[in-house]
Amino acid sequence: MRSVKSSVQGWQTAATRPAILIVILLLTLGQGACATQEPAHDGEIAKQEKIYRSRGADVPSGYVTDRALSDYAQLLPTGFCDALGSLGSSDRWLDVGAGAGQAILDYYAPEDDAAPADKCAWSGAKGRAVAMSIEDRRTDKWQQQAASLGDDRIRYLSGKRLREYSREELGKFQIITDVYGGFSYTEDLSQFVDKVLSLLETGGVFYTMVQSVHLEDGKDKLDTSYQTELVDAAGREVKVCSWLKQTAGVQVGCESKSDWNTPTELINIRKVRSDVSVPRLKLLKYEAGNPPGRRFQLEP
Ligand SMILES: C[S@@+](CC[C@H](N)C(=O)[O-])C[C@H]1O[C@@H](n2cnc3c(N)ncnc32)[C@H](O)[C@@H]1O
Repeated sequence: MRSVKSSVQGWQTAATRPAILIVILLLTLGQGACATQEPAHDGEIAKQEKIYRSRGADVPSGYVTDRALSDYAQLLPTGFCDALGSLGSSDRWLDVGAGAGQAILDYYAPEDDAAPADKCAWSGAKGRAVAMSIEDRRTDKWQQQAASLGDDRIRYLSGKRLREYSREELGKFQIITDVYGGFSYTEDLSQFVDKVLSLLETGGVFYTMVQSVHLEDGKDKLDTSYQTELVDAAGREVKVCSWLKQTAGVQVGCESKSDWNTPTELINIRKVRSDVSVPRLKLLKYEAGNPPGRRFQLEP
C-alpha cells in the first residue's frame, strides 16, 4: 500500500500537478456531459428488432400483424371509412406498419368477398394502396392478389423504416394510416410525424391511434400504466394530443377512448398547409415490447 502511495506521490512534482488537476477536471466534466446525453437504448432496440423478426411460434402473443379492414374501422377515428370510400382511382393510401397488409387486401377484395358496408368496404373506384412494414410479412394471399391486380394498385414495401425512405421514393398520399404501426413503435416520434406529414398532400389526412397514453379528455382510469409518455422541459406531463396540436400547418382531432381496456387516443391530423413544423421530442426511455414503453421530452 505504502509503495503505491509513495509511487503516486513520486510522480506528482510541482510541474506535473497542474496538468493532473486539468486531467481530473476534464474527466469530471466528461462524466457530467455523458450523464446529460441521451441514455443508451441499444439493448432495447435490439430486443425490439427480435420482435419484428419473430416468426411462427416465436411471435409474441400481443404482436398482431393481420388486422382486417373492419378492425381498422374500429381502431381509427371517425371519418376514416368515408375518406377511404371517397378515394378516386389515382388517389393513394399508405398504411405505415401494415404487417401482413390484410386491411389493404380487404379493401381490394373482389366484390363477392366484400365485407358488409358497415365494415368499411365499398364497391366502386379504389385508390392505389401501399403497405409498409419493417419486416416482410406478405402471405400467399398477398402475392396472389398483387399478381392479379398488378403493382400499380397494391405495393408492399419492407426492409426499412419509414424514415429511411426518401419522399421521391414514396410520392404523396391522400390518406396515411397507422394501426399499432410506426406511431406506436418508433423511437423518434416527432421525426416520424414529420415524415408522415411530408408525404401527405395538402388536404390529406393521417389516421392513427395510440394506446396507454394520457387522454385528451382527462378521463384516464386511476390504475392506468402508461406506455407512451410525454413530458415538457420541466418534466411535467404533456398529452400526446396537446403536443400534436402545437404542430403548425395541421388540424388535429382526438377521440379519447377511456372505456376501452387500455386508454386509447384515436387521432386524425389533416394537413392544411404545405409548410408544417412538428415540435421536436427527445427520447428519454425505450423499453422493447408490443408496443414498446416510451418516454419523450419536448425540446425547449
Ligand atoms: C403490431 S404490427 C401491426 C400490423 C397491422 N397494422 C395490424 O394492425 O395488423 C406493427 C407493424 O408496424 C411496423 N413498423 C413499426 N415501426 C415502423 C416504422 N418506423 N416504419 C415502418 N413500419 C414500422 C412493423 O414492421 C409491423 O409491420
